[in-house]
Amino acid sequence: MTEPIRVWLEPGYDYGRTGAWMLDYPGCFSWAAARERALATVPSAVGGFVDWLLEHGEATPFPDSGEVAVIEELPVTREDGYERNATFDADRRLVTPDEIEAMARRLQFARDDLRSLTTRVTTYESEHGSLPSGDPDTTGRDAEPVTKPDNPAVRTSHEVLRHIAGVEIWLTSRLDRRARFEGASRDGDVGEYLRASRSWMLDRIRALHARDPASEGVDGKGEAWTLAKVVRRLVYHSLDHLHELDDRLARAERVVELLTVDREPPDIDALARLLAATGFVAWIRDRARLEQMVAGSTETFSVWRDARLIAFARTLGDGAFNAYVSTVAVHPRWQGRGVGRLLMNAVVGDRDGIKFVLDAREGVHGFYRSLGFEPSRTTMARRPTR
Ligand SMILES: CC(C)(COP(=O)(O)OP(=O)(O)OC[C@H]1O[C@@H](n2cnc3c(N)ncnc32)[C@H](O)[C@@H]1OP(=O)(O)O)[C@@H](O)C(=O)NCCC(=O)NCCS
Repeated sequence: MTEPIRVWLEPGYDYGRTGAWMLDYPGCFSWAAARERALATVPSAVGGFVDWLLEHGEATPFPDSGEVAVIEELPVTREDGYERNATFDADRRLVTPDEIEAMARRLQFARDDLRSLTTRVTTYESEHGSLPSGDPDTTGRDAEPVTKPDNPAVRTSHEVLRHIAGVEIWLTSRLDRRARFEGASRDGDVGEYLRASRSWMLDRIRALHARDPASEGVDGKGEAWTLAKVVRRLVYHSLDHLHELDDRLARAERVVELLTVDREPPDIDALARLLAATGFVAWIRDRARLEQMVAGSTETFSVWRDARLIAFARTLGDGAFNAYVSTVAVHPRWQGRGVGRLLMNAVVGDRDGIKFVLDAREGVHGFYRSLGFEPSRTTMARRPTR
């Protein structure tokens, strides 16, 4: 028996999106403008999170199902434009010491990544000037932009770093209202501000946990907080801005334009890792079957970056009339940057005489539509029974 991935939905999140929290993986989060699409992103959000932990040496099992179950749906509330975020039933619980240490460890992973990314951003900025905004509201991820009064994408890279530190202080003070950070100045050396605020936050959170592992409170804006909510939001926030900077740098460096599609069958281990990270769980349960999948395909399409397989697709076809497209996967870190389009353009090529058929997951139809695919009233499928 496999268990679906459990999801807590937050409609209205961040000025009208649907947020999806995977509370079994505190800090793992995804969002989209539409509910259906937010749900479709869940398997690869969790896959990407577990894959990221693995990269840092923390072995957490990938989910054993690509199915999703909504446990609770709690909209944000808003007053005078201020958004109060959801506090789910599952947030009202006792936080274990292991969870606090997992949080600290994962925040350190995010900080390590931020450090190496910042080095690359600094190199870029010394040659080209400030990193372009790469507005995530109007590119890649979401076809329907959300209008926000304060768009964080216009922050400079240094402002993003200060914001990361500032929010760690702010989140800590949600439950510890008297807490005042009096360490390094926000306007001084940004590295020092990041270090000092992190160490202050960890001390405070550990002390709070020691006092009451089920701490709850309401902040000055009327938003309810619990320790579990603070923990998940701390990890999420670090990852969110890490992703923002990574995305902006990739767009600035036009990395996707330099990628090419390789027609050689990929290494099976690399493929299994990519499929695990993108929620193709059933495909990797049996290694011999996965090998057969690759060997039995007419064509395979792979995109590599820094010796990692970041995208894959395959076809079964006769080269004359028909082709079936399957297993289209882009690594979560690379999604929304045009890699899927690059891959599918290679799949279809200029073969205008061929009918391409595929089985699209719910919430992904828009992606295939943008590539000229249309829903069919005539196609039938007999599903596997085991
Ligand atoms: C679906 C997937 C292959 C798309 O790849 P991607 O690299 O993220 O997509 P791209 O950035 O190339 O997007 C191309 C276009 O499709 C749109 N798009 C991408 N995903 C979409 C979705 N789920 N719904 C609607 N539109 C989508 C983009 O906005 C973009 O539009 P634009 O050219 O107008 O800007 C990728 O997200 C993925 O691997 N997801 C997990 C696995 C999966 O669901 N595979 C499909 C199985 S059927």
